[in-house]
Amino acid sequence: MFPAVRPRRLRGTPALRRLVAETSLEPRHLVLPMFVADGIETPREISSMPGVYQHTLDSLRAAATEAVEAGVGGLMLFGVPRPEDKDPNGSGATDPDGILNRGLRALRDELGDATVLMADTCLDEFTSHGHCGVLTEGGIVDNDATLSRYVDMAVAQAESGAHLLGPSGMMDGQVAAIREGLDDAGYTNTGLLAYSAKYASAFYGPFREAVGSSLEGDRRTYQQDPANRRESVREVELDLDEGADIVMVKPAMSYLDVLREVADLSTVPVAAYQISGEYSMITAAAQNGWIDRDAAILESLLSIRRAGADIVLTYWAAEVAGRL
Ligand code: PBG
Repeated sequence: MFPAVRPRRLRGTPALRRLVAETSLEPRHLVLPMFVADGIETPREISSMPGVYQHTLDSLRAAATEAVEAGVGGLMLFGVPRPEDKDPNGSGATDPDGILNRGLRALRDELGDATVLMADTCLDEFTSHGHCGVLTEGGIVDNDATLSRYVDMAVAQAESGAHLLGPSGMMDGQVAAIREGLDDAGYTNTGLLAYSAKYASAFYGPFREAVGSSLEGDRRTYQQDPANRRESVREVELDLDEGADIVMVKPAMSYLDVLREVADLSTVPVAAYQISGEYSMITAAAQNGWIDRDAAILESLLSIRRAGADIVLTYWAAEVAGRL
């Protein structure tokens, strides 16, 4: 007549729900991506990402310190060079005085080992054509020529004080090449957070504004097809073989199945990147009064943790760390 089994019993009070929660979200799980821009006098808000800024070196130091005080697990830095400093080789990426390397030095100087300082190891912010690598004469991204640029970029970032480097260009062999290059240069303890399963996603849109990218076309010859799941298993296995210390799935919310699969097979910690478009969607809906902003943010982050991420990169890292 009546149900003998009543799952609702464990949902009756906040204390009961807290006791039986399977997944948790702590400040240490959250990594804050940050942008440092060359040639600006004051921080500039990114119009498609309200609340996210391109920083000056000074505002970067201040915002990073605040995030670390809120308890975030780490910081991931991106550089935004002046348009006139971009060229086909992405020279600013390997220049010790390029904006990203200056930003890394400023943060390492400010924070020492109080946080985990990470750097995006990819050329797209620095190339005039906006691709993640150098091009052949036919205009295709040249895998192997790009690898040697990544090695030089990685060494410059390690030299500038990054604890972990994030190769995000999806070139074949990038983890092995960078690992070897770092080891040869004596940076045996600089780790690699590999963007292993990275998809050619429409949700990167606002990031293009964030870094002033001049990309025309798309990245489908190097980033993965959203139709594929098994391919991510292959990419992750390769990166593990090549020496990745952490593997990442990106974007997060449209790829939670991939994240679960990767979490089940990985022998190293797993990260997921809640990217720009995910931030902007929730922000825009909340601004319209269509969803409860704070609840939606927490639910999105918890779902990424539940799918298997040990670490979540999110533009809300500092805010949420402060709230938790
Ligand atoms: C590549 C890189 C991108 C992002 C992080 N690293 C852009 C891309 O691959 O097109 C996107 C991050 C975001 O959208 O928040 N340097």
